[in-house]
Amino acid sequence: MGAGKYDFDELTDRKGTNSVKWNDLKNRFGHEDLLPMWVADMDFKAPKPVIDALNARVEHGIYGYSYLEDSYYNSIINWYKRRYHWELKKEWFVFTPGVVPAINLAIRAFTRPGDGVIVQGPVYYPFYASIESNGRHVINNPLIFGNDRYEMNLEDLEKKAREPTAQMMILCSPHNPIGRVWDREELKRLGEICNENNILVIADEIHSDLRYPGISFTNYATISEEFAQNSITCTAASKTFNLAGMQISNVIIPNRKLRQQYENIVEATSSPMPNTFAAVAVEAAYNEGEDWLEELREYLKENLEFLKRYLHENLPEVKVVEPQGTYLVWVDFSKIESDPARLEKLMLNDAKVALDEGYIFRNGGDGFERINIACPRTILEKALEQITRAVRNYQRNL
Ligand SMILES: Cc1ncc(COP(=O)(O)O)c(C=O)c1O
Repeated sequence: MGAGKYDFDELTDRKGTNSVKWNDLKNRFGHEDLLPMWVADMDFKAPKPVIDALNARVEHGIYGYSYLEDSYYNSIINWYKRRYHWELKKEWFVFTPGVVPAINLAIRAFTRPGDGVIVQGPVYYPFYASIESNGRHVINNPLIFGNDRYEMNLEDLEKKAREPTAQMMILCSPHNPIGRVWDREELKRLGEICNENNILVIADEIHSDLRYPGISFTNYATISEEFAQNSITCTAASKTFNLAGMQISNVIIPNRKLRQQYENIVEATSSPMPNTFAAVAVEAAYNEGEDWLEELREYLKENLEFLKRYLHENLPEVKVVEPQGTYLVWVDFSKIESDPARLEKLMLNDAKVALDEGYIFRNGGDGFERINIACPRTILEKALEQITRAVRNYQRNL
């Protein structure tokens, strides 16, 4: 890594750390010896101030019940003011132990069994699980893919929002897995449709800090007061600073009535208290992790360029969908193998790489793979070499 303070090329062995990504492979994929490029966490150490703050807290030695102090809220409020010009108020925050739990709770708080929830597939698969495991049903407003780029289908959304069961929309912004950072106009039109039809918008903005150079981001709730009053925003430091195991997220609900409804469900189902280490880590990250994040974003950009170049030179039949945000890259392998089961076998059995298979994102995901590039470049290179070798062998044996 260039002249930065942080060395993102450093290899840190994650074996033996209860890492879902590295240590649970046999259980999840049936093989132990895979290079893991799947679940969305990074193979980089957190910013040094975070590690220092956690060490100091560990040294204290007493780990009793914890609460969130003003300094925690201020670290987030200042981050949003500085980086997004969004003035958050402390009373808008509701703590939950993660964005997926937050979405489950929102479904329970604001919809009833049998109701429909709109999503834009292919999309982050836990959205489907949250909707269906709570006895609601998915209404798909499929994204349009053309000229190597995804767009929202707003005409279709107008129809879906009018469906009698439709009550809620889960907006993935930036979008996982296709990497779009939606522009203000698209979000504005989406919100107008939802507001006209009384569809509550759950804006999952967990990836908003991770954007490629020159790409700006609009927080959904900042578009207008009406948008703020008819939405809840899910945020967390977990993707930005690689703190997913801390299990903490912030749900922002400016509308008092909605917040009360949400808090009632939180109280009735879980009444969570924050993990002792989580608040310490988040506060240090937002207050002192900004330079780390800027260096990380440069490194991710270089990894993206590396991936594109590598595939262009070695597997030109494979097409990378250029992401505007996230460290998850959506790659079209359908010219190699369009059958999702055979493509999965090729990646697992032959390439020995664990990826998130396109089909799990449903609705247009078949034939794609989602590759997590948040790792030292040598790991990325090894994965790409293994994939290339396996594909060439596969083609020879067809
Ligand atoms: C869009 C999106 N939402 C939520 C999450 C997970 O959030 P949490 O770990 O806070 O439940 C992820 C993780 O990959 C994600 O991509």
